[in-house]
Amino acid sequence: MRRKMIAGNWKMNNNQAASRDFVEKLESWFANEPTGTKAASVAASGKIEVVIAPPFTSIEAVRAAKKSGIIQIAAQNVHHESKGAFTGEVSLPMLEEAGCKYAIIGHSERRHVFHEPDEALEKKLIATLESNVLPIFCVGELLEERTAGNAEKVLARQLESAWTSLTSDIVGEMLVVAYEPVWAIGTGQTASNGDAERACDFIRTLAYEKFGIAASESLRILYGGSVKPDNSASLLSQSDIDGLLIGGASLEVESFEKIIETSV
Ligand code: PGA
Repeated sequence: MRRKMIAGNWKMNNNQAASRDFVEKLESWFANEPTGTKAASVAASGKIEVVIAPPFTSIEAVRAAKKSGIIQIAAQNVHHESKGAFTGEVSLPMLEEAGCKYAIIGHSERRHVFHEPDEALEKKLIATLESNVLPIFCVGELLEERTAGNAEKVLARQLESAWTSLTSDIVGEMLVVAYEPVWAIGTGQTASNGDAERACDFIRTLAYEKFGIAASESLRILYGGSVKPDNSASLLSQSDIDGLLIGGASLEVESFEKIIETSV
């Protein structure tokens, strides 16, 4: 049984005050105050993992405001070296000390806006797996790659260039993959349930071929790209989608809560 993950990627939004306010509201919702919702059962079930990826400067505010143990923190990026002359970068030991359980690697904005190549992402993935921080490794095709019929080729290239040296145990126990078609991110154009499921099934099949049945069955695969409260339940009902990576709809605490509710 794969534990569902609902992850909010705040990108470059929410300063410290806004982060604190968000987490305090979410915590009181988990505590079933003041209105009474399904939230308490979510909190108690332990069946889902709620993750927030704040900007680096707001990590401490989130860490200080979370108290129930339900919320985990993810960094939005990492550097593969643990220290040194890398201006503007943040290392894995620093993220661990700051309270991050996860780090997002290879988000489409890192790949396409900041031009991070496959080779750099492989280094980040390997360094993360050697640290005490767990990776959420993002893959996804551009619209023109999909239109040209190359979506699966792109996913295979992105994964194979990153996970070649990994072992079955690591893939099964530590890796989370997020399928985020680039054309669906921030566009309001969600992948259909069928397209999202086919891509996640394809990723699981690749994991099966390379790492075997046990690893592929326990690998968690998230979908991301214009997830909203009104499409989250149907996406989560797909058999190979184990969670969601949410951008815009994770910025409003009410919509994030609604998405969490649909995962119960
Ligand atoms: P979106 O972003 O939900 O705003 O489309 C998703 C993401 O970038 O992870």
